[in-house]
Amino acid sequence: MTKSGAGVPAELTTSLDRAVEVLRSGGLVAFGTETVYGLGANALDSNAVARIFAAKKRPLFDPLIVHLADPADVFSLVTEVPDEARRLMDRFWPGPLSLVLPRREIIPDLVTSGLPSVAVRVPAHDLARELIRRSGVPVAAPSANPFGRISPTTAQHVMDHLADEIDLVLDGGPCRVGLESTVLQMVPGQRPVLLRPGGITREAIEAEIGPIATLTGSGDSKGPQVAPGQLPQHYAPAKPLQIVSHWDESLLDETAGVLAFGPHPLLESLPHTTGRVEILSRNKDLTEAAANFFSALRRLDADPTVQIIYAESFPTEGLGLALNDRLTRAAAKS
Ligand code: TXA
Ligand code: MG
Repeated sequence: MTKSGAGVPAELTTSLDRAVEVLRSGGLVAFGTETVYGLGANALDSNAVARIFAAKKRPLFDPLIVHLADPADVFSLVTEVPDEARRLMDRFWPGPLSLVLPRREIIPDLVTSGLPSVAVRVPAHDLARELIRRSGVPVAAPSANPFGRISPTTAQHVMDHLADEIDLVLDGGPCRVGLESTVLQMVPGQRPVLLRPGGITREAIEAEIGPIATLTGSGDSKGPQVAPGQLPQHYAPAKPLQIVSHWDESLLDETAGVLAFGPHPLLESLPHTTGRVEILSRNKDLTEAAANFFSALRRLDADPTVQIIYAESFPTEGLGLALNDRLTRAAAKS
């Protein structure tokens, strides 16, 4: 396969060139990352960033993550990088970890919802980093889904719901991790706070820098928020979703869709549930389950025979923390 300079396959070069142009001229580009698809705009251009909020119908009190091509670029956006943050960057960047750090003035208020901090990350995805590098600007990008709905893990997912709102989707293939980045607040002089569990586990972070704090209490959907992005309802299918800790035959009627962590004899033995059972990992592997999670939830939501989705809770360790967080918010009523 022919490659251009930075390892981008030739057939993608045209769309990459076009995506760079769109970003530079204030447009919106959806692009694949290792976590989920992002809806990107030039983070230094308020008008472009405003288009993100309009496209997603996202409330202005929910700030955006700024994506960089290179860890060294972080210093152009933040005033201070505590030692612990530097250790995490060395260990986990590029990767699914967003660090909330004291912001520089150069970042528009719209990106941070007026907060004194900004969330930054370097995605572990070659095409995404090449897009950011070539556009020459930091890229603000929330997940590329209408606000509060299921996150996209393929280019097609983005097209299904946002085709009319965006200028271009840069197809980076299915997302490898499948869950959003972990968001960690690192205010200098304070203990780091886990704001959102995600693709880098709490255990992995604590192995690097010691104990971190967790946000307690759920958010207020009316905003403005002390710790934004904590709305009780989020990542939600259109259909009702109920979390179960074990499978019970009485649940599994003709209207039930099943989102199972692993196989279970009951799920295989009921002929009428065929096609409405999604098994996320045959070996109960959390990494594999995470990669399949949002796609499986979408299929059940789109199946006209499913009226209610029953989802099995995950073990409370590793990526299970992020998966249970997504399930809880998907199950919450607005
Ligand atoms: O994996 C990801 O993080 C994806 C990809 C595209 O990079 N992006 C993503 O963005 O999930 P979004 O907007 O869906 O979620 C961003 C989260 C929200 O919970 C937001 O409130 C939080 O990060 N956040 C952003 N800036 C913040 C800040 N300054 N302080 C606290 N939380 C912040
Ligand atoms: Mg999101």
